[in-house]
Amino acid sequence: MSLIPEGDPVASRRLSEAELVASVSPDAPDSDVDSVIVDPRRAGAATLEFARSVALGLSDTPPWLHSRFLYDDIGSRLFEEICEQPEYYLTRTEAGILEQCASRIREATGPVTLIELGSGNSGKTDYLLAAYAATEPSVRYVPIDVSAGILNQAKDAISVRHPTVTVTGVADTYERAFPLFKEFSPAMVLFLGSSIGNFDQRESDVFWQGVSDALSPRDFVLLGVDLVKEESLFNAAYNDAAGVTAQFTKNLFARINRELGAGIDLDAVEHVAHYNSEWQRVEIYARFLSRQDVYLEPLDRTIVVPKRTMVMTEISRKYDLEKMKEYLRCYDFAVREVFTDKKRWFGLLLLQRLPQMPRKSADQR
Ligand code: TRP
Repeated sequence: MSLIPEGDPVASRRLSEAELVASVSPDAPDSDVDSVIVDPRRAGAATLEFARSVALGLSDTPPWLHSRFLYDDIGSRLFEEICEQPEYYLTRTEAGILEQCASRIREATGPVTLIELGSGNSGKTDYLLAAYAATEPSVRYVPIDVSAGILNQAKDAISVRHPTVTVTGVADTYERAFPLFKEFSPAMVLFLGSSIGNFDQRESDVFWQGVSDALSPRDFVLLGVDLVKEESLFNAAYNDAAGVTAQFTKNLFARINRELGAGIDLDAVEHVAHYNSEWQRVEIYARFLSRQDVYLEPLDRTIVVPKRTMVMTEISRKYDLEKMKEYLRCYDFAVREVFTDKKRWFGLLLLQRLPQMPRKSADQR
């Protein structure tokens, strides 16, 4: 097995699944069965990518930071804690729907590989794994997450609870995992937790085009979306009384200090979250209580962030089911079923990739 060294010109080439599996850390004894795949060329490149993204975002008007960087191993653990807060109804509500509907989903899809984007601790997925494992002798589960730590933890928990489920974890971004979809068809891609809401409109368009292209006809997507509702529920959910969400926002800056040597005073960073009803989205910011000179070691560059700057760290869009269905049609997805809770707080959409329609050429239209 040859691992491509960092900085190699061929490193921009995509790894095949076989190469990815071959690159699993040698200290994983059962790596050929249950594995977490980490692309060995990514480590150095990832730090530089992080530094560039921070430089770009902090010097933009208005300033922002990409939400993907919230989820390092510490951030992922904090997010698990958010999900357990009494005000954060999303995880509980979605889990309740999954518990109710897992076997109906299984009936609708038949046997498929379960691929999950942003799988985290795979907690809610347990209901689906149970339903699929009950009806098939073996099930393949491919969780994809940017935190290798949480993938390993999830893999261990699943192998105990569901010994017939083979787990192949992929520690990478969503987009870099898209090329694997075709190899796992027939498949169902799980995109839960209303993570779609963390994309802006343009990112969402790019995402659905990518998923639509990467899937084979008749493959499925199970999409979780938080629905528009009374706004005080949002303000409470993103400002939990125990302050875990505030810690989660702060960890992004602690991570910038840890990985990029920035020296930001964390006491000067304050979590601010509120619902913007015009845009139907929660906006999450870090407010700077004093000026900070943010030094980015990998770039040897300092970005000055003035006092009172609001850095946007995340948006969480809220949805209307009918509009969402129409939108998804544009990307060749048919909505097969919609599951929701009694209060209609959260929606779970079972989508199926339609066969590619023969496209009319421009002059025929
Ligand atoms: N997908 C989650 C959501 O939109 C992510 C999330 C929850 C989040 N709480 C947060 C992101 C606080 C940033 C800050 O609800």
